Parts: sequence; structure tokens; C-alpha cells
Amino acid sequence: MRLVETKSVKVGSRLAKAIYNDHDAILVHEGVELTDRIILRLQELGVSYIYIQDDVTANLVIQQSISEETRRRAIAAIRSEFSKITNEITIKKIFNDNIIAKDFTIIIGKILEDITNNEDALTLLSETIIYDSYIFSHSLNVTVYTLGLASYLNYSKKQLLEIGLGAMLHDVGKMVIPLHILNKPGRLTEDEFSLIKSHTTVGYEIIKKIPNLALVSAHCALQHHERMDGSGYPMGRKGNDIHPYAKIIAVCDVFDAITSNRSYRKAMLPHEGLELLYAGNATLYDREVVKALRNVCAIYPKGLSVRLSDGRIGIVIKQNKEVLSRPVVRIYADGERKVEPYDLDMLLQFNVTIVACEKAFNDEKILVANS
Ligand SMILES: [Fe+2]
Repeated sequence: MRLVETKSVKVGSRLAKAIYNDHDAILVHEGVELTDRIILRLQELGVSYIYIQDDVTANLVIQQSISEETRRRAIAAIRSEFSKITNEITIKKIFNDNIIAKDFTIIIGKILEDITNNEDALTLLSETIIYDSYIFSHSLNVTVYTLGLASYLNYSKKQLLEIGLGAMLHDVGKMVIPLHILNKPGRLTEDEFSLIKSHTTVGYEIIKKIPNLALVSAHCALQHHERMDGSGYPMGRKGNDIHPYAKIIAVCDVFDAITSNRSYRKAMLPHEGLELLYAGNATLYDREVVKALRNVCAIYPKGLSVRLSDGRIGIVIKQNKEVLSRPVVRIYADGERKVEPYDLDMLLQFNVTIVACEKAFNDEKILVANS
């Protein structure tokens, strides 16, 4: 299977992975031949990339970093606990619920287990699930990235749990902000922006009151929009005044936001997201954290079409964990000439680099040239 941009997928291609909604209902079945209507519908749903069947990579298996089972359980827990929290805020009840911490602690254990057992670099392209609530999928994705980074940085078990809970709940304060403001695609008014900014302090106040949660987890919600140069909010903290947990969550938060599908904005590919983070590396984000993300996250995910510096074109089939920017690529064309597919390990061939990815070129020309 290979990953293609929904808007450039050819009619007649076959879907390689079924597309679900987050209540587990199948929206488009695996193997379905894509028509104009389905492609348009997928675009309307905000699906930027899909996996299609492909001869060159017929036996390529693409797994997400966490299992479907873990994802399902996590989303169910987030949905139920977040709604409970919202209700409790509305009726101004004092929290006396131990279940929240217990539920999320179990989920964090599952995610850590999945990440540790998964041999591939972190990939969370969630094209196969369409969520009705961005907050739920974002909270889960940020938790997975955060735990991946914190494990890479050798955090202790206790720290992993604290930062994991902080990541899971970092945006919980958004539950009380009206959706039309949260999802507003255009410019926000000053009032709307201050309301959005308040999710940090509201989240802090909520988490502080949840029994059995460390105060430092509440600080993750409070500080995840602070930036190294002091330009963040709500307090404008700088550099080392920002808690190390919040520095990690800040990077994972931005990375997930720019690489996820939103109805009003197309998802960036991981290498583009990383470039953007690197651009703000010196001023906005912690340098070490961005560097760690580069070493943990699949920069070029499996299934992605890439063009190499010498003109060869192929599909990423395997990550090289030592150097994630140099994966194994199954070459199927040389310039506009189709060739018998073979695998090129970029770790062994240092004279080539990846110069473009799927959406930057269209291999239609190759197929035409060879048919
Ligand atoms: Fe946030």
C-alpha cells in the first residue's frame, strides 16, 4: 500500500485501509474502488491523505504506533472523562472522582507498552479514522508523542506517568470554550483570542482539583503555550522558567496540530512539520526537545512516495531507526522511466538524499511515459 494525497488520487484506485469514524463505524471499506464522489466526500471530511493498494508495495504492512485496541480504549476514556469534567464544571461540583486518574493511568500504561513493543519510529497518520471531536484525537496524539519523547529522554516511570497525564489533559480547559470559536478558521477577535488563551488557566484549575493527580500535571496545562523567548501565554515565562514537561508538550502539541487533518486546513507531512518546528527552534521551542522529536518520529512515514536527488522515485518501505531521515526506499522509476522495483537502503548510500515527497510531484507522467 502507499500513501497518497486525497486530492490527487486517481479514480479507480482501491482503498488499502478502511476508513472509520470514531464510533467504530466503517465509512469506506477496504478494497473499495474510489469514485469521484467518494474522493470528494473524503476531501470534505478533511481527509488529506489515504492509503491505496499498489503493486510495487503489495505486501507492505503499515502499522500505527499504538494498536487499534489502545486507540479505541483511549478515545472512549477521553470522551467519557472529558464530558464528566465539563459537566462538573458546569454544575460547579467539587471533584471527588478517583476514576479519572485511574482510567488515564491505565491508558498511559497501554500506550507505553505499545510504543515500546513497536519497532517502527513514531507514526500517527490517522487518515483511517475520522473524528467528530478534534480535542479527543489531539489529546491522544499529543500523549503518544509526549510519551515517545519522554521515554527517549530516559524519563523515570513516575515522570512518564506525570507527563503522560499532563499531556492527556493539557487542553481539557477547551471543553468549556464554544466550538464555533475553537474551530473558527479566520482571524479571531481580541475577546475570542483571550477566551481561547484562558484554556490554559482553566485547565490548570480543573486538573489541580482532580484527586490523585500530581500538581506538576496541572502545570502542563498551564504552561504548554509558553514559549522559550517569552512570547507565549498565559504568563510569558521564558527559557528555564518553563517546566521541562511543558516544553515537551508544547512541541508535541504544535507538531500534532500541523500534521493533523482539520476541516479548514490541510495536514502537513511529518518532514514539513519538523521543518516548521526547526524554524522556531532557537526562539520558540526547546532545542533539545525538537532534536529528540527528529530522532523519535517517522520523518518519512512508510508508504510515502519520495524522489531522490539523483532522480530516482520510490516508496518508503522501512525506517532506519539510527537515521530516520534515511529510510529504505523501494525504487520503481528512474526519472520518467519505470524500472523493475528494487530496494535502496539510504543508510548505505550516502550520495543520495530525499528531495521531494508525494505531493510535490505527480508520477502520472511516469505511468503515461511507460504505458
Ligand atoms: Fe492548548
